[in-house]
Parts: sequence; structure tokens; C-alpha cells
Amino acid sequence: MYDRLDAIDVEGVVRFVASMQQEDGSFFGDQWGEVDTRFTFCAVMTLSLLHRLEAINVNKAVDFVLSCMNFDGGFGSKPGSESHAGLIYCCVGTLSICRRMDALKGDELAWWLCERQLPSGGLNGRPEKLPDLCYSWWVMSSLTMLNRIHWVDKETLEQFILACQDCETGGFSDRPGDVSDPFHTLFGLAGLSLLGNTAIKRVNPTYCLPQETIDRLKLEPQILL
Ligand code: FPP
Ligand code: ZN
Repeated sequence: MYDRLDAIDVEGVVRFVASMQQEDGSFFGDQWGEVDTRFTFCAVMTLSLLHRLEAINVNKAVDFVLSCMNFDGGFGSKPGSESHAGLIYCCVGTLSICRRMDALKGDELAWWLCERQLPSGGLNGRPEKLPDLCYSWWVMSSLTMLNRIHWVDKETLEQFILACQDCETGGFSDRPGDVSDPFHTLFGLAGLSLLGNTAIKRVNPTYCLPQETIDRLKLEPQILL
């Protein structure tokens, strides 16, 4: 964001991230060996920001993500795990960066995602759960990459997001009346940007970074056409 990628040890980061990839294409989060599609996304995003994606086996990383696809078109944390909007963002984001959006079941997945909207206007992360502001990011960014953001009622979602703001501190919480925190403040603001709110800079749906940063780095994440 500050145009200071020169300040980090790029070779060290690339070596570490690449060393986390496993034979089946998945990624460990660290030396302790937990596998999760979150780690795939973090690895792919990190290397793409450094223009060093070639340091890993991208085809295998994509194959692992696709092995996590469920009958409903969604994705979980590993093969056979329940579809969850947070992990769907990670998997769709990986396919967007690797330019393999063609492998998705666009209609099925977008249908599952838009069904996350509840009568309050807010979104949950999977069936039968409470709405939570951060899903305004995980769901809406995925729908934006799928080019189907209009499948959600934007007006009531924007009202839900704004109702999560604490008028005194300015921060946002997971749902109206709860205590605000930096995590939900980021995803509330980024969600408002996706909804077209021009008070906030354009945020890129794949990277959750300002679009101007993505343009400056000449990155071209794929969106389903
Ligand atoms: C369920 O918790 C939540 C998960 C299993 C993981 C969610 C994943 C993300 C939010 C994506 C993270 C992204 C990156 C890039 C690290 P829960 O049961 O408390 O939540 P729920 O009730 O809302 O389902
Ligand atoms: Zn949340």
C-alpha cells in the first residue's frame, strides 16, 4: 500500500512461502503442518504481489483448490470440508490470481453466495448462522469476481453495514450493537466500496487492496466475464 516492497527481504519471503507447498499442491501454514485453503490463498497472493508466482507449482496449487470444491459449487478448508464463505473467498481469489476462473461453477456458486443474505440485509458465512459484517467482504468480493454482485440486495446490505458503525469511535463491529474492532472496520469499509460507495477509494475484490495499488503493481487478477 505504501509502495515500499523494496523494504522487505524478497528472496527470504519467496523461499519460505515456496517451502510450505506440499506434493499435492496444498500449503502448510507453518512448520507444524496444518493444511487449509487459507494458506494457499496467502501463499499465492504474497508471491503474486512480489511478481514471483513461478516459485511455486501453480497448476498443482489450482488442482488442490479444485479438489476442495463441493457439490453446491462452494469450497471449504480442505477436500470434503463444508462450504464456507470465508474459504470460498480464498479459493475464488486463488483462481482469480492464477487466472483459472473458468474452472468454477459460476451460477451454482453465486446462487449459494447470494442465499447468504438474511432479512436484516446482512450476510452470514454458511446456512443457519447469524449475519456478520465481515461476510459483506467474503461474499461480495467473491460475487464481484464472479461478476454477479447484483444478485444481492445492495440497499439493505449497505444499511446493515452502516448500522454496524459505532457513532462515537467510528469503528465497525460484526453486528449492530457489538464492540467495534479493526478487522470488521476494514471489511465494512471495503464492503461499502464494492457496493459503489464513492466516499471510499475503489478496493480490488481479489486482493482487498486499493485498486490504484493493484494498477501500480501491474497485477491483472481475473474476473469471470
Ligand atoms: C468459522 O468460524 C470460520 C472459519 C472456519 C474460517 C473463516 C475463513 C475466513 C473468514 C477467511 C479468512 C481469509 C484469509 C485470507 C485468512 P465460526 O463458526 O466462528 O463463524 P461463522 O459462525 O460465521 O460460520
Ligand atoms: Zn466477522
